Amino acid sequence: MTRLYRFLFTFGSALLSENGVVTAHAEADVPSEYGPGSTAPVRPFHLDQVQLGNGLLQEKRDRIKTFLESYDERKFLVLFNNQTGRPNPDVEPPGGWEDGGLLSGHWTGHFLTAISQAYADQGEEVFKTKLDWMVKELASCQDAFTARNLTTHPGYLGALPEDTVLRLGPPRFAVYGSNLDTNTWAPWYTQHKIMRGLLDAYYNTKSSQALDVVVKMANWAHLAITVGDKNHPSYKGNLTRDDLNYMWDLYIGGEFGGANEIFPEIYQLTGDNRHLETAKAFDNRESLFGAAVEDRDILVTSPGKQPGRRRAARLHANTHVPQFIGYLRVYEHSDQQDYFDAAKNFYSWVVPHRYFAHGGTGGTFPGSDTNPELFQNRGNVANAIATNGAETCTTYNLLKLARNLFLHEHNATYMDNYERGLFNMIPGSRRDSSSTSDPLLTYFQPLTPGASREYGNTGTCCGGTGMESHTKYQETVYFRSADGSALWVNLYVPSALTWEEKGFTVKQETSFPRTDSAKFTINGQGPLDVKLRVPAWARKGFTVTVNGQTESNEKPQPGTYLTVSRTWNTGDVIEVRMPFSIRIERSIDRPDTQAIMRGPILLQILGTPSNSSDSYQQLSLYRYLKLDGDYARAAIKQTSTSAAGDPLFTTSDGNLTLRPYYISDEKPTSSYFRRVEPNVVFGTIDTGVPNRKRNDKLPNYDVPVSGMDSPGSDGPTFLDLVWDLAPFDTHAAFIKVVSDTADAFVSAGLYTAAERDTIVKGAGNSEKELAA
Ligand SMILES: *[C@@H]1O[C@H](CO)[C@@H](O)[C@H](O)[C@H]1NC(C)=O
Ligand SMILES: *[C@@H]1O[C@H](CO)[C@@H](O)[C@H](O)[C@H]1NC(C)=O
Ligand SMILES: *[C@@H]1O[C@H](CO)[C@@H](O)[C@H](O)[C@H]1NC(C)=O
Ligand SMILES: *[C@@H]1O[C@H](CO)[C@@H](O)[C@H](O)[C@H]1NC(C)=O
Ligand SMILES: *[C@@H]1O[C@H](CO)[C@@H](O)[C@H](O)[C@H]1NC(C)=O
Ligand SMILES: *[C@@H]1O[C@H](CO)[C@@H](O)[C@H](O)[C@H]1NC(C)=O
Ligand SMILES: [Zn+2]
Repeated sequence: MTRLYRFLFTFGSALLSENGVVTAHAEADVPSEYGPGSTAPVRPFHLDQVQLGNGLLQEKRDRIKTFLESYDERKFLVLFNNQTGRPNPDVEPPGGWEDGGLLSGHWTGHFLTAISQAYADQGEEVFKTKLDWMVKELASCQDAFTARNLTTHPGYLGALPEDTVLRLGPPRFAVYGSNLDTNTWAPWYTQHKIMRGLLDAYYNTKSSQALDVVVKMANWAHLAITVGDKNHPSYKGNLTRDDLNYMWDLYIGGEFGGANEIFPEIYQLTGDNRHLETAKAFDNRESLFGAAVEDRDILVTSPGKQPGRRRAARLHANTHVPQFIGYLRVYEHSDQQDYFDAAKNFYSWVVPHRYFAHGGTGGTFPGSDTNPELFQNRGNVANAIATNGAETCTTYNLLKLARNLFLHEHNATYMDNYERGLFNMIPGSRRDSSSTSDPLLTYFQPLTPGASREYGNTGTCCGGTGMESHTKYQETVYFRSADGSALWVNLYVPSALTWEEKGFTVKQETSFPRTDSAKFTINGQGPLDVKLRVPAWARKGFTVTVNGQTESNEKPQPGTYLTVSRTWNTGDVIEVRMPFSIRIERSIDRPDTQAIMRGPILLQILGTPSNSSDSYQQLSLYRYLKLDGDYARAAIKQTSTSAAGDPLFTTSDGNLTLRPYYISDEKPTSSYFRRVEPNVVFGTIDTGVPNRKRNDKLPNYDVPVSGMDSPGSDGPTFLDLVWDLAPFDTHAAFIKVVSDTADAFVSAGLYTAAERDTIVKGAGNSEKELAA
């Protein structure tokens, strides 16, 4: 564990202007290990070690960078200056929730993170100049707060009075609301965003001043969370564990974001144990932490059955996901296993039990209240689709959590989920048009059939995490083992890695996800295990060649990593092919409610469903399948390619157009459709026998959904089960599967012997129909 708080002041380059103000800043020494996974067996590269190449993600990044570059950073200082009596230029604060209301300051933190990431990627001075100016001004505000005796504890920095933070705790326990004098709104969430922004400024641009400010803020936080509101007349002493539990259970007011991820990082940098204590003060011990350690899913309970004195029955998704990212950071610096177990178990409650095909979670359902930011009941996906959608911030945080869990337990499933979010909701969150005044980011990404996305979000949470997401696309492409013996290739993204310590550079050329291959060129010499991710969706035809020779030591297993171990030489080339297929994903609780996937990409159906008796688009697809079971052959065909290179698809009858989820405009689209397959058909042969469902005794929703049938006896249809076993090498193999499945349905009392015979006869007659 590295513990240092050393500054390497480069005074030689510090310039004094006429009035004696330092205008060029000291560069700090940044330790080689920091941030998520810095003590883990697998570790990330720093953002500036990987450059993003041209393609889909770079296009999205550049639209945000244009906005970041044009945005007047002075707007961020207005509210901070106003608090401290410092003069302001004639500019307005950003607006949205960054408007003087009780969440002010959060967007400033996001902006700091975003521009420091933009700088790390391509090194454009404009971002560093903006960042240095903002950090310098924020430092002056922090000094002014303390010097002007505006705070109870020294080191506070915010766009609001310190009191908005202290009043959350005893003796007042202020609640969520909009009264600036009495209410509070996620004050530690805002502190987290500002601190995160400053730490990222330090990590990504070596700003010693940012480190200085954030360490002072952490020293303040320790006092604020232990000694607390000591000048209040009813003060009764330091905060107790009970007080803290009570605070974190407060809906929205108690939302602290990932505050607990910051302090272990400050501990790592300073060696000061108080910061680890601060992190643990945020443990949500009364109503969630213990259940997570024990793997008891209580994200939603029946009203009145929830633990704790004031937690809600239905928890708010984006309040809780980042708490578990913080627990992982505590684990990384304390080795207390409970913190890891809590995070791992919590993640498994969300994915897959509350997880949509586009990588998001949350939403409402008929009969629930109307707040789509809350978690659904465990197992409820289908009944949550029709009404609104997933908050983009929550996906940003789920990606952070999956990534961080992977660094400790290298289960490729985490990366499959990461890839799903990274190539769907994240690029889908940025509208495909340029603006220098509006970030054009989503808040919710609705699943409602025929819904459209809305873009904007200046000054909101999702407008903040959105600026970050699009400036760090390269952060998970490669990982390295702690001992440097392995390079993990997690994602197929055009990029260049510079691994100085090993003397390797790796250039990845690919147009993924627009195409399905990638080429890696190695520069460097020496032994190295290269671990290539075999995505779970790459079920057929994944191949790896090295210098043109097929790598045959290991058979690629979808949902794992394939290791290529050798001594590499400059000029060695690895080529990966991972043919896309179109596949159907059935929702876990209602098998006829389905999504169409191509590789990791969700294909959305364009248009507004027009059937007045079903809000979903309805599709019948089995009659278009051949023995290979490939939906791309006829059921959903690629018909063209957009100017940007995106594949576009049409259903077999030519009625519907489908396109990748990440395409971002305001057209109405459907992410899920209803599968309508009334009869058992083989090509155009209709047997006339109903395509019955198997009773899979699906788990009922843990907390019943009012007015909705729980899954109960639902299950896949006869044809679902047959085609799940595609491809079929021969027609005989197909007939065998049909007969076996039909026999099983007869045994289960679902078909009569006569129906079975009709089905098998139909299959027998379908040889020409199903021939490829
Ligand atoms: C500055 O603060 C004062 C008093 O706190 C407030 O009345 C005023 O609206 C603030 N200005 C801005 C731009 O928020
Ligand atoms: C700072 O403020 C506190 C209370 O607001 C007061 O008791 C104290 O005397 C002040 N200190 C200075 C140096 O003004
Ligand atoms: C209150 O907290 C402070 C600082 O965190 C600590 O030094 C002090 O010992 C605590 N007081 C009591 C009574 O626990
Ligand atoms: C990886 O995680 C998935 C999902 O939780 C689980 O089903 C699988 O067993 C895990 N694989 C390993 C090798 O632990
Ligand atoms: C509309 O939906 C109903 C209910 O699923 C279905 O019976 C009907 O065939 C559909 N109509 C059309 C034109 O698809
Ligand atoms: C779909 O296309 C078919 C044939 O091209 C046509 O007969 C049918 O009316 C269309 N259905 C809808 C709902 O447009
Ligand atoms: Zn949000």
